[in-house]
Amino acid sequence: MAEIRTIAPARHGWQGEIDIPGDKSISHRSVMFAGLGNTPVHIRNFLHAEDCLSTVGVMRALGVDVKFLNENELIVTGNGLHGLTEPLTVLDAGNSGTTLRLMMGLLAPQPFLSVFCGDSSLTRRPMGRVLRPLSEMGAQIYGRSGNNNLPLTIVPTEAKLRGIHYKSPVASAQVKSAILLAGLYADAPTTVTEPYVSRDHTEQMLAGFGVHLERSGTSVTLYPVEKGGYRAPDEITVPGDISSAAFFLVAGSIIADSRLLLKNVGINPTRTGILDVLTEMGAHITLQNERMSGGERVADIAVEAAHLHGVSFGAEIMPRLIDEIPVLAVAALFAKGDTVITGAGELRVKETDRLRAIAAEFQKLAPGSIEEREDGLVIHGNAKIERAQVSSWGDHRMAMSLAVLGAAAEGVLLENSDSVNISYPTFFSELDRLS
Ligand code: S3P
Repeated sequence: MAEIRTIAPARHGWQGEIDIPGDKSISHRSVMFAGLGNTPVHIRNFLHAEDCLSTVGVMRALGVDVKFLNENELIVTGNGLHGLTEPLTVLDAGNSGTTLRLMMGLLAPQPFLSVFCGDSSLTRRPMGRVLRPLSEMGAQIYGRSGNNNLPLTIVPTEAKLRGIHYKSPVASAQVKSAILLAGLYADAPTTVTEPYVSRDHTEQMLAGFGVHLERSGTSVTLYPVEKGGYRAPDEITVPGDISSAAFFLVAGSIIADSRLLLKNVGINPTRTGILDVLTEMGAHITLQNERMSGGERVADIAVEAAHLHGVSFGAEIMPRLIDEIPVLAVAALFAKGDTVITGAGELRVKETDRLRAIAAEFQKLAPGSIEEREDGLVIHGNAKIERAQVSSWGDHRMAMSLAVLGAAAEGVLLENSDSVNISYPTFFSELDRLS
C-alpha cells in the first residue's frame, strides 16, 4: 500500500523566512562540469536530493572523485576533459531526465562503451530528441523502441564528432545542453537554435570554465575546447532553486494572512516566468537584496497574500516556467475568473503527463474546475474545493503542488508523497514548521 500523507488546512497565515535549497539544474551541472576538470572544485549549497545524487553516482562510475564534506558541500576532482573512464556497470539515471540527457551528450564523444538505465518514469520518456541530433554529429547511440527509449547504449566512434548547426523543434535546455556538451569534443563549432531560449545554466557555467560560447538571439554557438582550454574554477556556489521557491510563492499568495521571505533564490531571467505570471495575476511579490552569486543573479523574494485573478499565457513564456505549471494551476484555482494555459504540450513528457495528472487530481478536489486541452489547461477560478484523497502520480512537483492546494483549502490525503525527495527532501518539514 502506497504511503499516504495527511496535509491539514492551514490554521493561520504562513509567516517567516525559508532557506530555499540549491538549484537542481545548476547542481547537476556543477558536478558534471567539475568532473571534466583536473583540479578540485568545492561546490557549496549543492541540492542533496535524489536527482542530483543520480548525477553523482554516474560521475563516480566514470572515475570522477566526489567527496561530500556535508550534505550540501562537496569536492569534485576529475581527471581532465579526456579523463573519464569506461564504467564497469550500467549507469543508472534514476528519475532524472537532466542526468540522462546531458550525460548522453557528454558520453557520445568518449572512446568507451556506456549503457544507461533509469526508473519506470524515465524509461517512458522520449530520448530520440537528443539521440537524433547527436547521431547527426556522428554519435552511435542505440535504444529501445526505435532509438527513443531507455535502455540506451552509447558506442564509441572512430572519428571525432562533427560540429553541426541544429535547429531544435523544442525549446529544451536538456536537448540544447546535450548537443553543446558533445560539441566540446567536436571537430568544428556547434550551434543550437531554439524556438525560444531555454534555461541557459549550461552556457553560463561552461563560460566560467573557460569555454568559448557566443549567443545571438535564440542561437548559441560553442567552440570546441583546445588543449588546456578547460579550466575548472576553485569554487561553485549554487543559488536556491526558483522552481522550489515556486511552491511558497503560490502558498504565500493564496493562504490568507501569509507573509514569507524566500532567501537566496536564483533569478536567472530564463527561469523567472513564474514571477511574471504571478505578478500579472495580482500577487504581491518583491525582490530584495539582489546580487550576483557564482555567475548567477540571486535575490531574496518577499511574498504576501493577495487576491489573484485569472490570466492567459502560452508558448512564448513556457520555457521560463515549464516546471512551475502544476503550482501555477493551483494559483489559478484560487484566482477570480479563468486561467488559460496554451503551448504547454511539453508537460506531457515530463516525469509524468502533467496536463493529465493536474486535470485528474483537480477533478477530485474541485469537480468541474478544469478542462484538459491537447497543449494546455483551462482552469475556472474561485472553485469550491473539497477534501479528497489525491495522488502525486509519483511526480515530485505534483506532490508539492497538491500539498499547497490542500493547505490552502480543506486539506488533502496525498498518495506517494515521498516523490518530493527527487528535488526537495525537506519540503514537508518546512510545511510542518509553517503550519
Ligand atoms: C532542465 C530542463 C527542463 C526542465 C527540467 C530541468 C535542465 O527540461 O523541465 O526540470 O536542467 O536542463 P527540458 O529541457 O526537457 O525542457
